[in-house]
Amino acid sequence: MDLTDLETPALILDRTKLDRNVARMREHLTKLKVALRPHVKTAKSIDVLRRVLKDPPGGVEREPGGITVSTLKEAEYFFSNGVRDILYAVGMAPNKLLHIAELRRKGADVALILDSIEAANIVAAKGQELGVEFPALIEIDSDGHRSGIKPGDSMLLDIGGRLHERNGTQLRGVLTHAGDSSNCSSIDKIRALAERERAAVVQCAEALKRAGLPCPVVSVGSTPTATFAERMDGVTEVRAGVYMFFDLVMAGLGVCTLEDIALTVMTSVIGHQPDRNWIITDAGWMAMSRDRGTAKQRVDQGYGVVCDLAGKPIDDLIVAETNQEHGIVADRRGRPVDLARFPVGMLLRVMPNHACATAAQYSQYHVIAGEPVIEAVWPRFSGW
Ligand SMILES: Cc1ncc(COP(=O)(O)O)c(C=O)c1O
Repeated sequence: MDLTDLETPALILDRTKLDRNVARMREHLTKLKVALRPHVKTAKSIDVLRRVLKDPPGGVEREPGGITVSTLKEAEYFFSNGVRDILYAVGMAPNKLLHIAELRRKGADVALILDSIEAANIVAAKGQELGVEFPALIEIDSDGHRSGIKPGDSMLLDIGGRLHERNGTQLRGVLTHAGDSSNCSSIDKIRALAERERAAVVQCAEALKRAGLPCPVVSVGSTPTATFAERMDGVTEVRAGVYMFFDLVMAGLGVCTLEDIALTVMTSVIGHQPDRNWIITDAGWMAMSRDRGTAKQRVDQGYGVVCDLAGKPIDDLIVAETNQEHGIVADRRGRPVDLARFPVGMLLRVMPNHACATAAQYSQYHVIAGEPVIEAVWPRFSGW
């Protein structure tokens, strides 16, 4: 089968790019002497994780190592595929504790994160009630992006003490995610944020240890900071997810180039509007997602960069507008388009703004290796 045999829209994954992205991150973190705990929220596929955990070409496949998940569905799925060491890196909701306890009883080492005494008390009480010990990491806010306690906040030791002393919980360590790296305006700013991310969490780990509390795990990570970090001393693991595929937001930040983007949506031309210089396709916001992450960047890529079937960007064409199942392709500056070059039925591929959001719309990857020949179909899932 090749791409021309598929019905559109379809999600295409270029494995040669995936392998290259994975190898680059692995080499960089090996140089910094720190472990990688890949975040599987983008891929949601054991076939992708196998490539991530695979040793360099020719090497032997390792036992699956630890992963980061964003849903318990990911935890369930990857555990059923042999992954034991799982960090659930979204703040704890009490109604998920029973599910985590069940996974732990089956042998999955699922750890959770929290950032308040209130949550620590709830987790400890539920652990006691269910007769399990929930390992918990304290979430640190290193960049004001989202949740977590600020480095230097005395609450750190209160939460740490509570998790360590009470039955029903164990203090596993500290974690931070410099999510603001996606808003940085230069590589230097990403580099500085990477150091801030590292320093914040190491400072907290040292404070816990000075207070006689354990802190075996010191966890940082986002794709931009992981890519440009220059040191990792004091850190035990780095979490990164979107680096496997990359996307236009990452390219806009300078974290990758357009050539590194492994994920595209294949779409068909279904019509034209000559008076508006529009090409109409069958990939609307259902196929691309509503994500407009490049809107606030220097180059606004609309809903995606339009490429030919080989994956090469075509002139200055972007998906300028979308309806549910319609994409409107136009020149990014509104210049005339030679519509005769894009007959009805022509196949195009579109690079997405946000790989996580676009992939979420599909139940499978059609895998290619540079050429349009489909070498595999890898299932993926969505939802909770
Ligand atoms: C807690 C946490 N860690 C790590 C990551 C990975 O970030 P990225 O996709 O930039 O690699 C995320 C992404 O949302 C996250 O929420």
